[in-house]
Amino acid sequence: MIQRALHPQPRILIADDESSLRTVLSAMLRREGFQVTSAKDGVEALALLKASLSADIDDPFEAVIADIKMPEMDGMSMLEQMAKHHEDIPVIMLTAHGTVDLAVQALKNGAYDFLTKPYERDELLMVLRKALGQSSKNAMAPRTQLGLKNGQMIIGESAQMRQLHDVIERVADTPSTVLITGESGTGKELVAHALHHKSARAQKPFIRINCAAIPETLIESELFGYERGAFTGAVTSKPGRFELADGGTLFLDEIGELPVEVQVKLLRVLQESCFERVGGVKTIHMDVRLVTATNRDLQKAIAEGHFREDLYYRLNVVPIALPSLRDRKDDIGPLATHFVRKFNTRLGLHIEGFSEKAIPLLQCYPWPGNIRELENIVERTMLFANHATIMPEDLPPEILAHQKAQKLCKTLQLKEVSDETSMKEIVRQATFELERDLIVQALVEMNGNVTHAARKLKISRKSLQLKMKDFGLRGSETET
Ligand SMILES: Nc1ncnc2c1ncn2[C@@H]1O[C@H](COP(=O)(O)OP(=O)(O)OP(=O)(O)O)[C@@H](O)[C@H]1O
Ligand SMILES: [Mg+2]
Repeated sequence: MIQRALHPQPRILIADDESSLRTVLSAMLRREGFQVTSAKDGVEALALLKASLSADIDDPFEAVIADIKMPEMDGMSMLEQMAKHHEDIPVIMLTAHGTVDLAVQALKNGAYDFLTKPYERDELLMVLRKALGQSSKNAMAPRTQLGLKNGQMIIGESAQMRQLHDVIERVADTPSTVLITGESGTGKELVAHALHHKSARAQKPFIRINCAAIPETLIESELFGYERGAFTGAVTSKPGRFELADGGTLFLDEIGELPVEVQVKLLRVLQESCFERVGGVKTIHMDVRLVTATNRDLQKAIAEGHFREDLYYRLNVVPIALPSLRDRKDDIGPLATHFVRKFNTRLGLHIEGFSEKAIPLLQCYPWPGNIRELENIVERTMLFANHATIMPEDLPPEILAHQKAQKLCKTLQLKEVSDETSMKEIVRQATFELERDLIVQALVEMNGNVTHAARKLKISRKSLQLKMKDFGLRGSETET
C-alpha cells in the first residue's frame, strides 16, 4: 500500500538573488517550524513550483516570498507567470527602499502583500501567517491534502479522507472504470480530476460530459460523434467525446441520467473497447479511461428499471463513495481555513481565519450542500465579516439559527440520560440559553449599547439590565 507522507509544516518558497538573505531568512523560518526551499531567481522558483505540482507530492508550496528585483526573471514577471498556473499560492514581495511603487504595482498584479528590506522578523511572520490563512496559534496544525496539477486541493484530515487519498493513489494509474457516488457538493468532480492528474494520462485530455445537461436525443451523438448525413442537420461529420478523450480520461457526470437506449450502447462500447460514430460504418478503437459520477441511488434506479444492472457492474469496478460533510466534522475546520486562504487571494482580503468559537458552530450545521455550500458560506462570511478573525456573530443567520435549534435538541436529549431532570427544568435551561444567545447577539450588533440592544429586542432597558445581570453580561452603556 502506498503511504502518503504527512507534513505538518507549511512549505515556503523563497526567491531572492542575495544568498545571505536566503540563508538568514530560511534559518529563521525553519526555527519557526516551516519547511523552506529557496531559489536564486524567478526562473528557478517557477521550476520548483512546477516540479512540486507534477511530482507525486502531498505538500505543495503554500506561500512564496519573492524579491522584486532579481536577475534572469524578476519578481514581477514571476508573479505574472504564477497567476497562470499557481493562482492559489500567495506571494509576499520583498522590496528595497525606493521601489515601493513597484511593490504597489505588484499588489495590483495579485501579490498578497509586500515588505520593505530590511524586513522586520515579526512583521514578516505575521504577514506570512496571514497569507497562509492561519492564525499564529494553529499555524503548525497538521493538514492532509493532495495537490492537483491545476492548483486544486483535496483537503481533509478525517479517517474517511485519508482512506480516499489512499484509494486515489492506488487506482489513479489503472485503466479500471471508477464510479464516484456522493451527495451534491461532496467533491465528485474534484476526485475525477484527481484520478486523471495522478495518472500517466495526465498530459492527455480530460473530457467531461454532464449527462443531465444534454437533451436525450443528442447524447448519443455527443458521446460517439456522427457522420455527415447521419440525421437531419448533420451537414459535417463530428467526433464525439470518446474520440476527443483518446489517450486520456472521459468523465461522465450524472451518469444516472443517461437514457436507457444510450446505456445499451455504452455497455457495448465498454465490452468491446470500440464503437462507430452515429451513421458511420468505420469501427473506432479507443483508449479511454472512464470515470463516472452520480448523486442518485443507482441500486434504486436499477430496481425501478431506469438503470441497467449489467452496465452498473461495468461502471462500478472501483466504487468511490464520498462521505457527506456532516459525517466528517473534523474536516470542516481545515476546509474552512483552505477556503479563507483561497478567497483572501482571490478577493484581496486579509481575513485571518475562524475563531475558536466559530468553528464548533460550523460543525453543528448539517451542510445539505456539503463542501460547495461551505465554500459559498465562507466566501459570503468573509465579505461581510466585521473582524479580521471571524467571530460567531459574523456567521450567516442560517448557521446561527441552526445552532440554537441544535442546542435546544441537545438540552432536550438530557431527558433521556437523566430521568431525574424534570421537563420543566429542561425547558428552563433551554430557554435560558436561547435568551442569553439572543441578548449576546443583540449586544454585539449594537456594539454593547444596552439602550439600543433593548430596543432591538423589544424589551425595556431595565429588564434587559436585569437579565444581563442574571447572565453575568456587561454592556458599554452610555446614558442617553
Ligand atoms: N476535499 C475537498 N477539498 C477542497 N475543496 C473541495 C473538496 N471537495 C470539494 N471541494 C470543492 O467543493 C466544490 C464542489 O465540489 P464538486 O463540484 O467536485 O462536487 P460534486 O460532488 O461534483 O457536486 P455536484 O453533485 O453538485 O455536481 C468545488 O469547488 C470543489 O473544488
Ligand atoms: Mg459535480
